[in-house]
Amino acid sequence: MKSIVILISGRGSNMEAIVRACASEVWPARIAAVISNRPGAAGLDFAARHGIATLVLDHKGFASREAFDAELQRVIDGFSPDLLVLAGFMRILTPSFTAHYAERMLNIHPSLLPAFTGLHTHARALEMGCKFVGATVHFVTADLDHGAIVAQAVVPVIAGDDESSLSARVLKLEHRMYPRAVRWFVEGKLAIVDGVVRQSDGEAQAFS
Ligand code: GAR
Repeated sequence: MKSIVILISGRGSNMEAIVRACASEVWPARIAAVISNRPGAAGLDFAARHGIATLVLDHKGFASREAFDAELQRVIDGFSPDLLVLAGFMRILTPSFTAHYAERMLNIHPSLLPAFTGLHTHARALEMGCKFVGATVHFVTADLDHGAIVAQAVVPVIAGDDESSLSARVLKLEHRMYPRAVRWFVEGKLAIVDGVVRQSDGEAQAFS
């Protein structure tokens, strides 16, 4: 049985999709804890209602990024996770933290990486006249929003789209894609070969 810790900062809808899939598809895994860096993150209620340990570690109480990440690591490791899942966790991570969880930390980012790292991805894609937008699940490295790509979801831009319509359509696909990617990991179906993720499940790593 694999142990998963999920980090959130807010709504937690991707976390919710993962928790639901883990239960309904009977994964060989359990969600050991959901941790938020923001007090009052909406997703904490859902996790608590589902019997998952919830914790808040407010980054504002720490003097430096290093001090926060060191304490976060200590708290996470108390749950001995096999996999750390970032689900809308809006923090830049220190190299020491990312090294500690190398090849066992996944993130979802709302763009077709390597395009549009950082914030406001859909608005920037619209400004650039992109005809497709999407989201990417990737292993986390010290390089922000880089790291080996596990899966990608793509949606076409249609007339009249704005940031909120695009993010709503992409989010629907995020909720399908992220649980699949996490499941591949817990079932031992992901390998990074020469920096590229190979998946032995037979399913497509592209979602649309
Ligand atoms: C998601 O769209 C996710 O891709 C994005 O934040 C949202 C979180 O929603 N992540 C990032 O921007 C990370 N840089 P959720 O809290 O409802 O899962």
